[in-house]
Amino acid sequence: MKKVAIIGAGTMGNGIAHVFAQAGFEVSLIDVSQDQLNKAIATITKNFDRQVAKGTATEEIKTKALQFIKTNISLAVGVKNADLVIEAATENIDLKLNIFKQIDEHASANCILATNTSSISITKIAAVTSRPEKVIGMHFMNPVPVMKLVEIINGYSTNKEVTNTIVALSKQLGKIPCIVNDYPGFIANRILMPMINEAIYSLYEGVAGVEEIDTVMKLGMAHPMGPLQLADFVGLDVCLSILHVLHAGFGNQKYAPCPLLANMVTAKKLGIKTGEGFYTYAAGSKELVVSERFK
Ligand SMILES: NC(=O)c1ccc[n+]([C@@H]2O[C@H](COP(=O)([O-])OP(=O)(O)OC[C@H]3O[C@@H](n4cnc5c(N)ncnc54)[C@H](O)[C@@H]3O)[C@@H](O)[C@H]2O)c1
Repeated sequence: MKKVAIIGAGTMGNGIAHVFAQAGFEVSLIDVSQDQLNKAIATITKNFDRQVAKGTATEEIKTKALQFIKTNISLAVGVKNADLVIEAATENIDLKLNIFKQIDEHASANCILATNTSSISITKIAAVTSRPEKVIGMHFMNPVPVMKLVEIINGYSTNKEVTNTIVALSKQLGKIPCIVNDYPGFIANRILMPMINEAIYSLYEGVAGVEEIDTVMKLGMAHPMGPLQLADFVGLDVCLSILHVLHAGFGNQKYAPCPLLANMVTAKKLGIKTGEGFYTYAAGSKELVVSERFK
């Protein structure tokens, strides 16, 4: 496997392009927005500069890797010669189903089709293609160049050989793959999101404050980040939408999102990306300041 096409050049797409190019793959990075593609290249360059400064990469590796990445606004052209396509576009089911129909039409018959979705059923995505046995989940974690895990999700029809290929490939990227099956939230979000939701319920019911909840989990459970800080990092809108997937998928009340989370999303307090969630984020500052609303 030599050529990889990545669809979506946002947070995850640029990180995935970075790790593949660094490992010597030819990368075709595709997005509907040229502006987003330009931003992705700028971000990848900046992230390589940071690696060079830290001594984890050299100028030579950076220059080589950047040469391996070509950008494209046409999906049909961008996936044409790929051995593997990884879709990392916006988390929206209709959008993803439409993208997969197009990839299926334009990619070669042997090409493996992977998705980086956090919560959408791999089986559902596979069902709109003519090759469900070649469709698999390849769930990278954010930030991709730093995080070791790749959660590999077998759809109902995924072929064993395809899984083995993706496991070997993840190792080649220096990642640690974990294979799971396709049920709502897979493993990462099935366990993480109820924990975050319970932390928000504890705040909502007045059991403890933001700092206390996060401190208990950091110091008591050795988590590097408390659940409320992590929710701000992931994005509260993303947390809410994954909880809806778990709630609908299992039909179990234990996954019902906390009303406080729903209110915060409606009020556009989405965490780091909007500058306020459980904490406030002054531009450029790394200090953790609890939001006025929760003081
Ligand atoms: N952000 C995270 O922490 C994280 C972690 C793991 C998985 N994911 C998953 O990764 C995927 C991408 O998330 P993200 O955070 O990078 O989103 P993002 O909003 O940063 O980027 C999405 C990109 O997709 C592009 N796009 C939209 N429609 C497209 C189309 N038809 N063709 C090509 N490109 C298109 C957008 O222009 C945008 O650049 C989602 O499925 C998300 O659930 C996200």
